[in-house]
Amino acid sequence: MDNPMKIAFSEIKTLSEGVIAVGVTEDSTLGATARALDEQTGGALSRALGAGRFKGKQGTSTTIVAPHGLDVDAVILIGLGQPGKIDGSGLRALGGSVVRRMNAAGAKTGAVAVDAVDGASVAPPAMAADIALGARLGSYSFDKYHTKKKDEDKKSLGELTVMLDEPAAAEDAFEANASLADGVFTARDLVSEPSNVKYPKTIAEDIEALTADGIEVELLDRDKMASLGMGSLLGVAQGSDHEPYLAIMRWNGAPEGADQQPVAFIGKGVTFDTGGISIKPGQGMEEMKYDMAGSATVVGLMKCLAGRKARVNAVGLVGLVENMPDGKAQRPGDVVTSMSGQTIEVINTDAEGRLVLADVLWYAQATYKPRFMIDLATLTGAIIVSLGTYHAGLFSNDDELSERLIAAGKESGEEVWRMPLGKRYDKDIDSAIADMKNVGKGREAGSIAGAVFLERFVNGVPWAHLDIAGMAWMKGSHDPTVPKGASGYGVRLLDQLVRAHYEG
Ligand code: BES
Ligand code: MN
Ligand code: ZN
Repeated sequence: MDNPMKIAFSEIKTLSEGVIAVGVTEDSTLGATARALDEQTGGALSRALGAGRFKGKQGTSTTIVAPHGLDVDAVILIGLGQPGKIDGSGLRALGGSVVRRMNAAGAKTGAVAVDAVDGASVAPPAMAADIALGARLGSYSFDKYHTKKKDEDKKSLGELTVMLDEPAAAEDAFEANASLADGVFTARDLVSEPSNVKYPKTIAEDIEALTADGIEVELLDRDKMASLGMGSLLGVAQGSDHEPYLAIMRWNGAPEGADQQPVAFIGKGVTFDTGGISIKPGQGMEEMKYDMAGSATVVGLMKCLAGRKARVNAVGLVGLVENMPDGKAQRPGDVVTSMSGQTIEVINTDAEGRLVLADVLWYAQATYKPRFMIDLATLTGAIIVSLGTYHAGLFSNDDELSERLIAAGKESGEEVWRMPLGKRYDKDIDSAIADMKNVGKGREAGSIAGAVFLERFVNGVPWAHLDIAGMAWMKGSHDPTVPKGASGYGVRLLDQLVRAHYEG
């Protein structure tokens, strides 16, 4: 993102311009700032509550334009819902919708007043930090290739001030959230870029630049990967003119002497997926630029962890390749040998993500002996059929890790739904000519076939696979913190997982 909206915190003050948002709890109860504005306007807010449907329900809002007695251009009343039910995800959504409303109104500056709410379990500074995070996340847009957009079609809001009695406390609470938003934006930017701009080498270069954030970076090139025996990953790269890379990021934030094994995050980075020789239909193929979203999430997550100095040792590994048809491309029926020594019959060159991850997962467990491995991949169209755009598919050999991920999903708003693995599905990928094939029984259980394939490369390490094909790219927006297009899905989920269980 080129011009991120600024966020500031201040004490509650009278505004001379812009738009102000104030809270209303269910049954039309005005907060302290709202009451003050109501008096200054001779009761305009109370009248608005009487006149329309808006009664303070969570997720709703109404706007009073050009309020008499105030210098601001508009007052937005935002529903907080029932005080007892105010929580982080509601507040983040609220922050996102406030930004949407202000942009819709064409406001250049805006403020949201955060007053203590009777009966709420969250205090204003924490509320403010969540509202600010939602606002920041919701403000994202990717405009760099628009050279002719008119001002009135651009987002107008340049600065949002969050006003409350203890601005310093809110600012402290927001600090980690700001790093989180940076990580999400990093991921969204990488995914939004087209594949002629971001291909394996250019993404690897972006990753190298993360050394400025205190992250150690190592790149394995084609020769290095060949010497390690990564025939599975390299088979996919074979048809492309772009050189493949395995990029490794290390953040060593664990306290001195903690002797902590790292947690490992692995991303599918297929920078464009044509399907290869098993070529995809042309319709909608342009979407396959987002087939590197798993790797973008890992990059964004590492940036976030480093940015907030997370007390954890973490390693991120991303397999960067392009899947193209070509005279040199691999063919259906080819047999490749993975770094693990296991052989794979490539039935379908379009099932390439698992071929890339097979070698990266094996390398990760062999090299880092991690506490767990979590991979993220836009692995199957079938997961979109199963779960749509509200949950990522979770596949795991570990119940504790699964439960933690499910909880982190609810907390962060990036939810996961556990899917099965098991012997019968595993048997479906046995091959007549090699140790396994890269597809299962056609359209049956397609996402699970991908997962059991990956499981053969984790060597018993606690592992979870997140199939994010439905989550990484939003055709519409149903969450005010996630605009249309690249979502950056997974950064918030995994940051929450790390925060809750793996620091210290
Ligand atoms: N990248 C695709 C999966 C995908 C589809 C991601 C739609 C996002 C949106 C993956 O490489 C793929 O092509 N999977 C095949 C697997 C099949 C050949 C077994 C699929 O889902 O059709
Ligand atoms: Mn594919
Ligand atoms: Zn793919």
